[in-house]
Formats: sequence, C-alpha cells, structure tokens
Amino acid sequence: MSETEEKTAPTTNIDPRCPSVDLMHERARRRMPRFAYEYLTGGCFTEINLERNTKEIRDIQLMPWYLNDYKGSDLKTELFGKTYDAPFGVAPIGLQGLMWPKATEILASAAYKHNIPFILSTVGTASIETVAELTDCNAWFQLYHPTDDDLRDKLLDRVAAAGLPTLVILADTPTFGWRPKEIRNGLSIPPKMSLRNIMQMTTCPSWSFGQLLAGIPDFKTMKPYIPKGLSMKHLGLFMNKTFSGRLTADKISAIRDRWKGKLVVKGIVNPEDAEKAIKLGVDGMIVSNHGGRQLDVGQSTIKPLTALAEEFGNKTTLMIDSGVRNGPDVANSIASGAKFAFMGRTFMYGVGALGAKGGDHTMTMLKRQLQQVMEQIACERISDFPKHLVKSALPATGG
Ligand SMILES: Cc1cc2nc3c(=O)[nH]c(=O)nc-3n(C[C@H](O)[C@H](O)[C@H](O)COP(=O)(O)O)c2cc1C
Repeated sequence: MSETEEKTAPTTNIDPRCPSVDLMHERARRRMPRFAYEYLTGGCFTEINLERNTKEIRDIQLMPWYLNDYKGSDLKTELFGKTYDAPFGVAPIGLQGLMWPKATEILASAAYKHNIPFILSTVGTASIETVAELTDCNAWFQLYHPTDDDLRDKLLDRVAAAGLPTLVILADTPTFGWRPKEIRNGLSIPPKMSLRNIMQMTTCPSWSFGQLLAGIPDFKTMKPYIPKGLSMKHLGLFMNKTFSGRLTADKISAIRDRWKGKLVVKGIVNPEDAEKAIKLGVDGMIVSNHGGRQLDVGQSTIKPLTALAEEFGNKTTLMIDSGVRNGPDVANSIASGAKFAFMGRTFMYGVGALGAKGGDHTMTMLKRQLQQVMEQIACERISDFPKHLVKSALPATGG
C-alpha cells in the first residue's frame, strides 16, 4: 500500500463547524432549550462519577509502533455473529425526541447507514416497529422491567415479531436516579412543564419549529398500554408504577427462557454479578453506570471493565459505555478489554448540533477519529488494540 493510500482523507463530509465532539456539544447547548440540554447532560447528585467516567478513560495510554511493516487498518468488528463497520454503537436514550425532534429516527437511520448497532429504549420516542423498519431489523431493544409479566411478554413478543436480534436488560437502575437538574426542570416523576420551560423553548427556533413539525414526542412503544387522556402528571405516575427497576436472577431466567435472540445485561460492574449473569445464560454485558446518572459514589466504568476483562474476557462478550465521547476514547476502551463501546450523549450532541445531519456527521467523524488513532499507532485490526495498551500507566482497579 502506498503512503497516500494508507492515510485517510480526514475531513471529507465533515461539517467544518463541528470537527470535534466538544464543538458539537457546544453548538447543541446553544440550540437546545435548557431543560432538554440539562436532561441530556446532567448526572446524579454532584455529578462526580459523570466526570470521572471520561477522565479515567483518558488516563489510559497507547503505545505506537512507527517502524513496523504496517499494511493498513480495518475498523470492522464481529459481534454476535454480525460484522459491523466500526466497534461502537448508539446507547439507548429515553425521551430522545424531547431533546431533539425525531432524534430516535435520525440516529436509527444513520446507524443503519453506517452499519453500527442502534439500541432503542423502552421509553424511546419511536416504536419498536418503526425502528425495525428504519434499520432493516438490525436495531437492538432495551427493556425496562415491567412489574406485570404479561406486559413483559407482550413487549418481548413484539421485539421478536419485529425481527430485532438482541435484547438488552438493565442491572443499574434498581431505584430512581437523584438528578437535581431534572427535579428543578420538572422532568422527574411526576413531570410538569413550567412557564420557565416554555420560555426556554421560545429562544430555540430550530428546536421549536422541528417539534411543531414532528408533533409532541411521546412513548411510542408504550402507547398501546397507556390509558388514553392521561395528564403529564398521571402519565409519569403510570410509567413509574408500570416498571420496577431491580433486576433479579429470577427475572433474568424468565426472560432467558422466553427470548430466543442474544441477551445482553447492561450496567454490570461487579465480578459476582458478572459470574451470576454468565451462569444464567446471558450472551454479553455492557459495563455501564448509566452515564453517571444513578450512583455518584461508584467507580468509573473503565476500571471494572479492566478487571472484568481479565476474569471473564474469554467467557462472555464484554462491552462498555459511560464517558466514552470520541474516537480516542473508543480506542482506549477497546485496548482495555471491551469488544465494543457504546455512546449516549455523543450522538445526541451530534443531533442537537446539526439536526437531521447530526447522526451521519457524528458516525463519520468517529470512524475517522478511530482510524486516525489506528494509523498513528500501526494497529491493523480492532482486536489488536490490547497489544498497544501501556500497562505501566494503568490506574489501580481497586477491589
Ligand atoms: C438523557 C439520557 C437518557 C437515558 N435513557 C436511558 C434509557 O431509557 N434506557 C437505558 O438503558 N439507558 C438510558 N440512558 C443511559 C445510556 O444508555 C448510556 O448508558 C449512557 O448514556 C452512557 O453514557 P454516555 O452518555 O456518557 O455515553 C440514558 C442516558 C441519558 C444521558
């Protein structure tokens, strides 16, 4: 391969206003009403773990080989029997359409175009069936745990009927997250829209116009089960009653018996939980702390990932989310033992910054950023990343 072929053309199809995730974030902040922006960016309590997540991913260092016989890099990654074009995907985000009109549809379509996984939340603003159509049945579905088994089975049957291959269940939401910004902005349970929120909408014309065209965002997947005509307050209380947060071994077993596709548990950080989940027959785990939205006094996700990869890397498929923002962060996560990295806020920043083009822009940019790191360190395949990890610079993982 010649030297020119070896390098990527770095900026083709990249919007020059947003060549980094930080610049997308800044532009999204200016274009979103404050309550929506704070819902997206906020964490729990004092947001210590939210900060720690990204900081500790960035403590990881990679070793380059400059004099090797390098033949070019390939981002393709196999996961659960499918080859994706890059080792990252879109994490499930509830109420996406409130943060930016049609955000779910924008990101699902872009993920399909870029051949990366998109995970739809139970409380997303597009239905299972719509997202299945937009992704040619390639999306994954994240299930919140209904208190009623009948509702759980109905949802599982819909996901199977829609042809989606992978179900994600949640370990890290046994209780509600205490998020001061959401409480202040009326987005906790019960929710309320204040005059202040309405004033914020009037200062964001692209967002407001988009919402006018898209219609009021609602929980499309859950719509058939929600009594008609509920006020916002009663809808919030209904949703709270419908889902119980805590995942148990019995719940995993019941889902494993019924769900024939791949089963992933999201939110595992404890080796004992990992071992239990493997025994219960799950196919993979996303090491996650819900993006710092649940436990402020927990670890960042890169630390448990490193420990879990050592113990369980050969027994299950380990993935990560929380704090991964850009291509170098994906590189560090994969080098530390993740097979795949998911991102929540990064993709939403893209949509907030660039609207309908935001998904495509962000995915193109992340692929280029990751490719740049691979070219720089002479990493030819995604599975070679761990060889580049500088072990002497690793932070202690703790007990
Ligand atoms: C605004 C917001 C809403 C979220 N809603 C959900 C959800 O409905 N279901 C879920 O499994 N995770 C949800 N998450 C967590 C994400 O799936 C993911 O774990 C997290 O965003 C990863 O961290 P990152 O944003 O730092 O990439 C949400 C996260 C954010 C920021």
